[in-house]
Order: sequence, then C-alpha cells, then structure tokens
Amino acid sequence: MLKYIIEGGNKLNGEVKISGSKNASLPILAASILNPNPVTFYNIPDIEDVNTTLKILKILGCKVVKKCGKITISCKKINRCEIPRDLMNKSRSTVILAGAIIGRLGQVTFSNPGGCNIGKRPIDLHLNAFRKMGITVVEGKSDIKCYALTKIHGTKIKLRFPSVGATENIILASVYSNGTTCIYNAAKEPEIVDLANCLNQMGANIKGAGTSRVIIRGVNKLHSCSYTVMPDRIETGTFLCMCVATNGRLHLKNTNAKNIVSIILKLREMGAKISIKNDEIYINANNMFNSTNIVTRPYPGFPTDMQPIFASLLTKANGKSKIEETIFENRFGFCDELKKMNANIIKDGNTIEITGVKNLKPCKVTCLDLRAGAALVLACLSTNGVSEIDNVEHILRGYEKFDEKLNSINANVKLIND
Ligand code: EPZ
Repeated sequence: MLKYIIEGGNKLNGEVKISGSKNASLPILAASILNPNPVTFYNIPDIEDVNTTLKILKILGCKVVKKCGKITISCKKINRCEIPRDLMNKSRSTVILAGAIIGRLGQVTFSNPGGCNIGKRPIDLHLNAFRKMGITVVEGKSDIKCYALTKIHGTKIKLRFPSVGATENIILASVYSNGTTCIYNAAKEPEIVDLANCLNQMGANIKGAGTSRVIIRGVNKLHSCSYTVMPDRIETGTFLCMCVATNGRLHLKNTNAKNIVSIILKLREMGAKISIKNDEIYINANNMFNSTNIVTRPYPGFPTDMQPIFASLLTKANGKSKIEETIFENRFGFCDELKKMNANIIKDGNTIEITGVKNLKPCKVTCLDLRAGAALVLACLSTNGVSEIDNVEHILRGYEKFDEKLNSINANVKLIND
C-alpha cells in the first residue's frame, strides 16, 4: 500500500506548473472513440484515471501512442463495445465512455459503476436520457446493455439535476444523431465547454456548452484534429489552499483563474492576497486567516470537489465556519480523520461546523477518496511534526506528480510503498 510520510511546518514557496484537467481529459479521451481519424491531445495529465481510460481504449481496438507530452489516438478499427468490468470498477468515471461507444457503434455493454466513498452515484439520468434518444436500455443483474436499434434520433432532454456526467454522455451519444438534441438544465462546468470545444474542433456541431441549454446538431463525419486540454481548476484550488494553510507564497503557472472565481473570492474573503496575470496566479498568505461559510453548488457555484480541502483549511481559521454540502450525500468522511489530528468539527446531516484551533496534532490518518486525500495532505503540511497518510493511491488517481510538485516548493513529502 502506498503512503505519504509528511514532515509538516514548512511554508510553501515557489512556482508550480498546473497540470491538465483530469475531469476534462476523461470525456475528451472518450470523444476520440467517435472519430475514425487520428486525434492528438496535449496537456493530458499522467494520472491513474487517465491511464485506466487509455487501457480501455486499447482493449476496444483503438491505437494509443503516448510520446513527449502528447497522446495520439486512432480509433479507426474500434471492434469491441464492452467496457471491461475490472477497469470500470477502478474508475467509475469511465461510464462516460458509454455515450461515445454507443454513438459510434450503436451498442454498448458496461457494469453499473456503483457508489463510492462520497455517495451512491446513481446513473439514472444517463440511462433515462439514452432512452429518450431512442436507445434501448436493458439493466441486468450484473451489467447494462444499450442498443440503438435504429439511428439515434435528436430529442429534447430536461435533466432533473445538472449532472456533469449525464450532460457529457448525452453530448457524446448525440454527435452523429439524426436531427437535433437539446439538453435543458445541462451542467455548466468548464469541463463541458472543453469537451464541446474539442468535439467541434473535430467537426461536431455543439452550441451552448457552459450554459444550461446545450444544442447538438448531428453530423455525418468527424475529421482529425489536435487539442490542448484545459488546466485543472481543482488542482489550482488545492495549491492555493495549501499555500494559505502553510502561510506561504506561491506562483501558479499554466492555469486559468476564470474557472475558479468562487474559490478566489472565498480565499480573498479569508484574507489571502491573490493577483492574476494571464494564465498565472500569485498568492501571498496572510498569517492568520478568517473563518467563512460555504455552500457547495453546481458550477458556477462553489465546487463540491473543493469542499474537503477548504474544510481542512478552515480547521485552523480564526473563528467558526459552516459548510453545507448539497451535491453528494456522503462527502464528510474525511472529518473523522481530521478529528484524529484534533480538528474541532461537528457534523449535522449535510452540514459541518468547524471551530478553528491554533494547532493540529501530527498523526497517522487514512485517505478515503481523492479530494479527502488532498484535504489530509493540506492538514499534515500545516502541522509541525511527522504525519502519515495511508491509501494515497486515491490521490495519485487525480493529482499528477503531487509529491514531486510539493517537494519542489519547500514541502517534505515522502512516498513509500509498504
Ligand atoms: C463529476 O462527477 C466529477 N467527476 C466529480 O469530480 C464532481 O464532483 C462532480 O462532477 C460534480 O461536479 C468527473 O468529472 C470525472 P454528477 P459526476 O453527475 O459526473 C447525482 C473528483 O473528485 N446524480 O454531476 O459523477 C449524483 O449522485 C470527482 O474529481 C444522479 O442522481 O457528478 C450526485 O449527487 C468527484 N443521477 C450529483 O448528481 C445520475 O444519473 C452530481 O453528480 C447522475 C448523477
């Protein structure tokens, strides 16, 4: 099992290059399945979830060439329509391959991705949307089969909730459809815009991405293209918060502050000095920082993926903070780990109340999921003494070269396998 040994107490200081977005890369890699011509991607992060997706593409019959920072994918001869169960279990986000496979081949089989540590994670919105598009969905005991007995037809789909994955799956499945598909109450996350920009670069016809109404006009073919994936907004927010937690100063490069307005406003409200110049962000922590209240919302509201990381930061703020989690029903599991470090957190349903303490206590904690892991790293970095975090495989799924980047800005993080 992989673990981090962290000697905390150092101020983070220096430059960090932000990697490409995990949550944009996954649907964009899925989009390559739709294209019989080669596509080349830049800025795709070298992380576990991406590698799992590339493995599935190869099993489906796609040719994948990774070399010096770019990935070229040729899906001319895609000859399988089943997402392997073991790989789907490794990364539930591979469910967005389903839309692309059915859009290209007219059928797909996959296992229900099931829940995870942050919630049940149903996919009813994905499957109901497929049904509205004329796709037959058969939910068996162990897998789900989808068939488009006739060409997928355009339709109107009103999402009960602006689901990111469901919006992406509908877009992917409707690229070659007959007619026009209109998604109402679509998710507006920047990763949806990145997916639409990439597909349009291939010759698709998608309008309104980033708004709650997305219109996809079916096309007959796609052509080769190359595309650079957007920077990871959650990695950016993670480093900004770790800078404040350690009273440091950082210069983040290759990022995009426009995608994290809610995070920057919140950190400024807490007292951090943040300035922005093109694709760079400079942040100066301000010794003590204020408490604040947070309610997570779909984009452009405060992102749920930053909730655990802010909660960890607020354990040492001046005063009481309240966080309400409105997106996932079970995303406070990390609080028990922070309490082992003497954090003062009271949970009440989907809300937690955090009373800032002067110091946390170094100790051994366990990583439950990706963002919970980042929250624990932040807590250990800002605590004098040696702490240990188990199960850091979760973190390596979503943060590229995380310990390497941290050690380059004055942290002391050792990755060990035992
Ligand atoms: C994406 O997950 C992200 N993952 C998540 O990031 C992110 O937290 C989430 O969007 C919300 O922003 C990727 O992009 C790979 P949803 P997704 O569908 O698509 C309910 C990370 O740490 N729902 O918007 O699964 C669902 O249960 C990950 O990088 C249904 O009820 O999120 C949840 O309560 C974690 N039925 C809410 O909607 C459905 O069919 C949001 O889910 C689908 C979703």
